[in-house]
Amino acid sequence: MPRLLHFFTLILHLRIAASSTTTTTDTILAGQALAASDKLVSKNGRYALGFFQTSSSRKSPQHTSSWYLGIWFNTVPTFTSAWVANREKPIKDTASLELTISQDGNLVIQNQSTKSIIWSTQANITRNSTTAAVLLSSGNLVLANSADSSEVLWQSFDHPTDTFFPGAKLGWDKVTGLNRSFVSWKNSIDPAAGGYRYELDPSGVDQLLLVALNSSTTYWSTGAWNGKYFSSIPEMTARHSISAKFVDNDREKYLTYHLVEEYMDPNMLTRHAIDVSGQLKTFIWMKGSQDWVMISAQPKAQCDVYAVCGPFTICTDNVVPHCICMDGFTIASPEDWELEDRVDGCSRNTQLDCIRNISTTHTTDKFYHEPCVRLPQNARDVETAASSSECAQICLNDCSCTAYSFGDSGCSVWHNELVNIRRLQCSDTDNSNGETLYLRISAKDVHSLKFNRRGIVIGIVTGTCISALGLFGIIILLMIWTNKTSSSGRTVNGSRGCNGIVAFRYNDLQRATQKFTEKLGAGSFGSVFKGFINDSNAIAVKRLDGAYQGEKQFRAEVSSIGAVQHINLVKLVGFCCEDSKRLLVYEYMSNRSLDVHLFQSNSTVLSWDARYQIALGVARGLSYLHDSCRDCIIHCDIKPANILLDDSFLPKIADFGMAKLLGRDYSRVLTTMKGTVGYLAPEWITGVAITPKVDVYSYGMVLLEILSGRRNTWAPFSSNSNLDVYFPVHAAHKLLEGDVGNLVDHMLHGVVNLDEAELACKVACWCIQDDELDRPTMGQVVQILEGVVEIRMPPIPRFLQAMI
Ligand SMILES: *[C@@H]1O[C@H](CO)[C@@H](O)[C@H](O)[C@H]1NC(C)=O
Ligand SMILES: *[C@@H]1O[C@H](CO)[C@@H](O)[C@H](O)[C@H]1NC(C)=O
Ligand SMILES: *[C@@H]1O[C@H](CO)[C@@H](O)[C@H](O)[C@H]1NC(C)=O
Ligand SMILES: *[C@@H]1O[C@H](CO)[C@@H](O)[C@H](O)[C@H]1NC(C)=O
Ligand SMILES: *[C@@H]1O[C@H](CO)[C@@H](O)[C@H](O)[C@H]1NC(C)=O
Ligand SMILES: *[C@@H]1O[C@H](CO)[C@@H](O)[C@H](O)[C@H]1NC(C)=O
Repeated sequence: MPRLLHFFTLILHLRIAASSTTTTTDTILAGQALAASDKLVSKNGRYALGFFQTSSSRKSPQHTSSWYLGIWFNTVPTFTSAWVANREKPIKDTASLELTISQDGNLVIQNQSTKSIIWSTQANITRNSTTAAVLLSSGNLVLANSADSSEVLWQSFDHPTDTFFPGAKLGWDKVTGLNRSFVSWKNSIDPAAGGYRYELDPSGVDQLLLVALNSSTTYWSTGAWNGKYFSSIPEMTARHSISAKFVDNDREKYLTYHLVEEYMDPNMLTRHAIDVSGQLKTFIWMKGSQDWVMISAQPKAQCDVYAVCGPFTICTDNVVPHCICMDGFTIASPEDWELEDRVDGCSRNTQLDCIRNISTTHTTDKFYHEPCVRLPQNARDVETAASSSECAQICLNDCSCTAYSFGDSGCSVWHNELVNIRRLQCSDTDNSNGETLYLRISAKDVHSLKFNRRGIVIGIVTGTCISALGLFGIIILLMIWTNKTSSSGRTVNGSRGCNGIVAFRYNDLQRATQKFTEKLGAGSFGSVFKGFINDSNAIAVKRLDGAYQGEKQFRAEVSSIGAVQHINLVKLVGFCCEDSKRLLVYEYMSNRSLDVHLFQSNSTVLSWDARYQIALGVARGLSYLHDSCRDCIIHCDIKPANILLDDSFLPKIADFGMAKLLGRDYSRVLTTMKGTVGYLAPEWITGVAITPKVDVYSYGMVLLEILSGRRNTWAPFSSNSNLDVYFPVHAAHKLLEGDVGNLVDHMLHGVVNLDEAELACKVACWCIQDDELDRPTMGQVVQILEGVVEIRMPPIPRFLQAMI
């Protein structure tokens, strides 16, 4: 009995302890303290402030784990830091550790038992006022006068680490001298200042720079601000969802940005930070895949980052890993290298002869040639050398000379460390693309290399797909690959199986949809019903008609379709496969489909901006389907009814991958589809092989409908003619006449960006060209609509006219 009592008091005790830590607040007042195990949570729940521990790396025990005070994304299950207070002052343990307001009003990390201060906001608080610290919904930690919260004494936005929050400033205060810039982490687990900084150009030009700190080299710049965008990033204008502002007045000069809620789900999480790799990366959090997905990186090529692989390495773009040591060298510090800290690069296997033996006058060092590379910078030209062998001798005579090259521009030599050598694409016989670097190494290493020539092809991922997609593709590929490897687990009924796809029981779906009562629509493959899981999460359940593939095959296809995730594709949540029943469960889209908004008179009129963003989003989604490498997916049925809109009118393509699910039955559906001319490319009728260009064609047709707000039917050729012509052909004529304004939906009452309208019309007309080779790829369409790539005037599609 006493034991039982003890047990109950213990439970009670635990309960109290638990509840005292779960009551979260966003404020620390004077006299209050935040214990090491507690956290502050911003009012909107998005950010948390507290102590976190960096993971110790298994591979490098030298990096013991440490504690930091920081801000992280509270709703993201994979810990993602956004700000660190004591990045240079790691804390070894949490005994007696607390965050509190000190006597002088500053926010401090202190050791409660010794009262020693580990970190302080060090604000200049002259007046004797009480202060309070608040974690705002923007992610800004503010120390303010508690009597007057507008009197900000210190804020974390003024002392950023690597992450540029929306609403924060990058730049300086001309009065106080405060200067905000972003510095990358030292390595993937150590928040100490690393090698790269993102800053406002100190020389006075209105631009931002990425600088390699170790050598003070600027390796990328945004180009000057022209009032709307930075000259090197014209695509900024296409990103309606992010609004940037550059301010230069008497008091301040800075860049800031915010997310435009009209174009973006306000709950969407974004992260814009300077990465350990020296690239400026933008991520969005994908709820579906529970992962950060990178949407842009600057500079685009990893090897453009100054000294990204460290000295004596070769960097190769679009290859994993992109850093390798030069021949005769090995990784200097494998532990750091593993953590992406490559400042030490590679070191010689054998010291050069002239260094080992100063007395030697006749060195035995040799040169090893690295063909097809971009040469390192800081070459010294030697004009006296007339031949390659003279150039080599000049290098050998100087003990600090490490490499030479002899080409059209004569002899160049390099001294000490070599950085920024980049592997270029050359064929075995043709070196015209790159140059050859003669690297000085010890004779001993040359000898061993003869027998152990490391193939440069190791690790090179082949295929044009990769090089076209670049880094983004690799990330996606890795993501899919990770998903795939973790998907080997069994799919249990009603449980999370492959790729986070849920296998539902039929009974559960019947209940979720209240016996399939609320019908959302009917398509070529079956009917769609609305339902709820857990009584709150809306879902769309698609009941497939007809005979489908066997269970095993169906499950396999569902899991591969589930792995395809993109912000502009409707997410597959789960499926059901019982007896002959085949159902698919998707996320529910509150704004129905595009055809409702375009063609139904009782719906709200989509603004021009919304239309353009929809066109761009659909293009991005299709481009992803076509180029995602692992399995090119041709949608085959792009039409407004298959473009769904979420709460913020973000477009999502539905029904992709149906060909895989239907298997042999697909041809039957296609034959019936052939009857509905409109979105189908001529190839369907002429019977040639189907390529992704059929989707490009359908996209062009949809784009015209987005533009005109009506179905592509017959239209009067001109106002004073009774000759009717198919609308797409009419549009092509009007485009050539320079009269796009006439084509645009009259419901917009002229509130339209005519440049964008003309661009969209041009794109559409290129997409519906008769010959698929004339049509752009979806990737090109995205670039054109983003304004990155120019486009010529399209010819009139003749076949279309003849066909109708
Ligand atoms: C605080 O001080 C005590 C006593 O000196 C020490 O044991 C503990 O490790 C300290 N805590 C921190 C976080 O430094
Ligand atoms: C703090 O403020 C006072 C008065 O405004 C000024 O004289 C002093 O230099 C400031 N100190 C620092 C460290 O900024
Ligand atoms: C500030 O307040 C403290 C305690 O209230 C007092 O001891 C101190 O003299 C005051 N200092 C000034 C500068 O007013
Ligand atoms: C701001 O800081 C950066 C980096 O520390 C520096 O290069 C720049 O000169 C500073 N600008 C001003 C105006 O202090
Ligand atoms: C650059 O980094 C190397 C290696 O860590 C170091 O030896 C060197 O002193 C650094 N140079 C500068 C200018 O900081
Ligand atoms: C240094 O060079 C001299 C002369 O060539 C040679 O006799 C001596 O053995 C060398 N020493 C070493 C350590 O290589």
